[in-house]
Amino acid sequence: MTAKPRKQVHLAAHFPGVNNTTVWADPASKSQVEFASFEHLARTAERGLFDFFFLAEGLRLREHRGRIHDLDVVGRPDTFTVLDALAAVTDRLGLAGTINSTYNEPFELAKQFAALDHLSGGRAAWNVVTSSDAFTGENFRRGGYLEHAQRYRRAAEVVEASRALWDSWPADALVVDRERGVFAREIPATSFHSTQFDIEAPFVTPPSPQGHPVLLQAGDSDEGREFGARTADAIFTVHGTLEAGQRFYADVKGRLAKYGRGHDELLVFPAATFVLGDTEAEAHERARHIRYQQVSPQTAIAFLEQVWGRELSGYDPDGPLPDVEPDATSEITRGRVRHTKDPLAVVKSWRERAEAEGLSIRELVIEVTARQQFIGTPGQVAAQIDHYVQSDAADGFILVPHLTPAGLDEFVDLVVPELQERGSFRTAYTGTTLRDHLGLRHPHHRTAAEGARAS
Ligand SMILES: Cc1cc2nc3c(=O)[nH]c(=O)nc-3n(C[C@H](O)[C@H](O)[C@H](O)COP(=O)(O)O)c2cc1C
Repeated sequence: MTAKPRKQVHLAAHFPGVNNTTVWADPASKSQVEFASFEHLARTAERGLFDFFFLAEGLRLREHRGRIHDLDVVGRPDTFTVLDALAAVTDRLGLAGTINSTYNEPFELAKQFAALDHLSGGRAAWNVVTSSDAFTGENFRRGGYLEHAQRYRRAAEVVEASRALWDSWPADALVVDRERGVFAREIPATSFHSTQFDIEAPFVTPPSPQGHPVLLQAGDSDEGREFGARTADAIFTVHGTLEAGQRFYADVKGRLAKYGRGHDELLVFPAATFVLGDTEAEAHERARHIRYQQVSPQTAIAFLEQVWGRELSGYDPDGPLPDVEPDATSEITRGRVRHTKDPLAVVKSWRERAEAEGLSIRELVIEVTARQQFIGTPGQVAAQIDHYVQSDAADGFILVPHLTPAGLDEFVDLVVPELQERGSFRTAYTGTTLRDHLGLRHPHHRTAAEGARAS
């Protein structure tokens, strides 16, 4: 029997923006909108030979009990503008932007991603999201809000239309003539017609280095997973513990065959946080300190209010969980991705846990909002990450540092060499495009039959 080949770990850097893991109280925390912050994180990720830099997107400031959510006050600059600027100060790092398919036109999106792919020499990626609520839709006159199934239908059409546009220029369309300059031969009109779009014109941008930017997907419902399995090159997920990761990994990889896709054509990237220390005990002490900074007494109550759907300001954060029942229909928080689908069941399980472990409100929130955390010495963290990847709980991780913009420095300096030592992480970039880093083929290298099955 031949041994299973060692998988290579893939790493990406999430810019710590308005996430609930970001710690703003730390004196080392800096601006979330100045270019210097984006540049610092991107350069650090590139120094660490990461696959890509990742920007999430929020199209409306979230509200809680009628007031702007405190983490959102810092705002978010436009994704394309930031990534285009980062293309100029990085050389190999992939540049991934979360862009909504519900409110945007495919022609515009295809043009913007093709431009990013050109400007960066083949490093663009698009995390296709559909948005989760009508509240965000109020900012958009056309497109507005669509029901869940329609949003995924539209997402599929947006991607199909974009692919048709990217593929529309023949490979030999551009001619370089030393006398007459560069000109284009015949560019056929893209003819794309679907339930939502009618496009009948030549595309404006020549084929970009990757052919298509890398496509990521981040919805977790059955439709979302199916859309990812059919369409995406990688999935961004919250399923980051070993067991949940393995279940999710097997689930989405298991959906590939019916689309004629191979096991390695879709990579799985859970979000992950990490805390390092010189000793294991020190790392755990730091992690505890960070968790208490992330979940202040007010944050703990606000979090419960989102799940209970009612005002709970009279409850003591250091006391027991509220004895009132949740209101499953309430919209106390608006603009937030709801990872809690069934509040009644959630509240029941939290009560049981709080009782069994003697947890206060704040302690419980600290426990239940902890995403996958790798905690330990650099060697231990490298071993944990490697173990998850070798055990098929993930192909890699999108790391979410808790500090802007220096939160990745230590990881790159201390954990990356340990991963390299284990033989699980590259020691140099071997290719120039993001597809190269991820081991994905150029879309035009697909056979005709594969292309037909995928579309
Ligand atoms: C891990 C993860 C990250 C997401 N990131 C974003 C984001 O940055 N911006 C956004 O508008 N929606 C984001 N979404 C929302 C998804 O696009 C989707 O609209 C939402 O999860 C509802 O779809 P679903 O029912 O398939 O999960 C994210 C979802 C997940 C699961």
